[in-house]
Amino acid sequence: MVHKVANAAEHKTEKAVQRCINSACGGTYGLRERIYVCPRCGETLEIDCQLARPNDPSALRKYWASKATSKLPRDASGVWRYYDMLPFDEHAPFVTLFEGNTPLFHAPRSAEYCGLRDLRLKHQGYNPTGSFKDTGMASAMTQAVISGARTAVCASTGNTAASLAAYAGRAGLQAAVLLPRGQITAGKLAQSLDYGALVLEIDGNFDDCMRLVQEIGDDPSIYVANSINPFRIEGQKTVAFEMMEQCVWQVPDHVVVPGGNMGNSTALGKGFQELLHVGLIKRLPKLSVIQAEGAAPLARLFAKLDPKESADGEHLPEKLTPVENPQTLATAIKIGAPVSWKKALRAVLRSGGQIIAVSEQEIADAKAMIGRDSIGCEPASATTVAGIKKLAAAGHIDREEDVVAVLTGHALKDPDYMINYHRGTLSLDSSAKGGSAAAPARISGAFQNAPERVAATKAAILESLERRR
Ligand code: F0G
Repeated sequence: MVHKVANAAEHKTEKAVQRCINSACGGTYGLRERIYVCPRCGETLEIDCQLARPNDPSALRKYWASKATSKLPRDASGVWRYYDMLPFDEHAPFVTLFEGNTPLFHAPRSAEYCGLRDLRLKHQGYNPTGSFKDTGMASAMTQAVISGARTAVCASTGNTAASLAAYAGRAGLQAAVLLPRGQITAGKLAQSLDYGALVLEIDGNFDDCMRLVQEIGDDPSIYVANSINPFRIEGQKTVAFEMMEQCVWQVPDHVVVPGGNMGNSTALGKGFQELLHVGLIKRLPKLSVIQAEGAAPLARLFAKLDPKESADGEHLPEKLTPVENPQTLATAIKIGAPVSWKKALRAVLRSGGQIIAVSEQEIADAKAMIGRDSIGCEPASATTVAGIKKLAAAGHIDREEDVVAVLTGHALKDPDYMINYHRGTLSLDSSAKGGSAAAPARISGAFQNAPERVAATKAAILESLERRR
């Protein structure tokens, strides 16, 4: 999938290169080459920003802090104010909807639920289209414009599609999104339609959509914006920078994220690695990834790894066994063959973190707990709190340790899930059509809060209040 090979001179003046992650191959390519995997060996690529270590890293901290109060549109974006760490030159046609700048909440009820003294939640659902995808879409669409593409495409479980629809529209590109028919929440589908994307509903699952996108990516007019594209990862890595600023540069002991196609974990790992490289932090947080049990190919692989052999993240397994028919009500992460698994695994191993799976019941209860903290999130995001509870119980996280979880999507992305949980009607069967769950599994609403039907009288209302006090 090579469309434009930069000439040597152009390559040299660029700020960064695209590099094959397979160190035995070592292929490097110019930024203008529209490739998504290494043309030589087929492995995934990453951007090497060739960052220099400043003499005084604290000056960079101050510089970023000053940009946070700047009124320039580029600085008002939580992605573009870290421009110095990104592979774009100053004349790039920056695409922005003012992404980033998301809150870091203390979550006392969720902390207690997990058996921790404290827990903080970095909520990427506060982005313009309600998910963490927007940071990466800002950089990917900027690169799409630079590369001269006409159409931006992605496979999606819904959030990437909504984000691509918005950002491609903003960049003046045609947007086309491939969605597994009947398996997308109404909110996410509605967003893609509203932002004007061409919505292609595919008879198949996310992994089928992903395969098709990689096939059509050969067309020179098309730009693939899934996280296999290393420019997506560049925008998404800035969440690590923003998080560290919010943590006043005290590195958390653990950072925990959900895992689907593994772009987010790859990006956070890269962000922290780069902060370490330039001397802005002195150690990495342990990065842990949580999958849903019915869609957990990487957690399965991780459980079989020999920790001694794989500790450095350099000796990675060659193959991941995909989950053929992934199942979970957390539809955002209903993925059986994640494309960025190797990069994510490498990041987790280098940091000393874990990759585990949690059940549908654990996800549902953790999600309700995040709701009780007045924060809320979509189901996939709640894998984090469910996973932290499990990691704490297993002794991987200590009660006193500093833990940050990344919530990836806004609660209103999937209201049906919430209503079903609180009414006590949530089951694997109640998910969108298109899956092939063998047996409908009922999920109990352990923290159920069903609506009450009340007579239209003052007395009846007061009686209801009294009962629930
Ligand atoms: N959480 C949410 C809300 C998501 O939408 C996704 C992925 C993930 C977590 C997992 O992140 O793929 O980077 O490991 N959603 C993609 C999509 C697949 O198409 O919207 P990941």
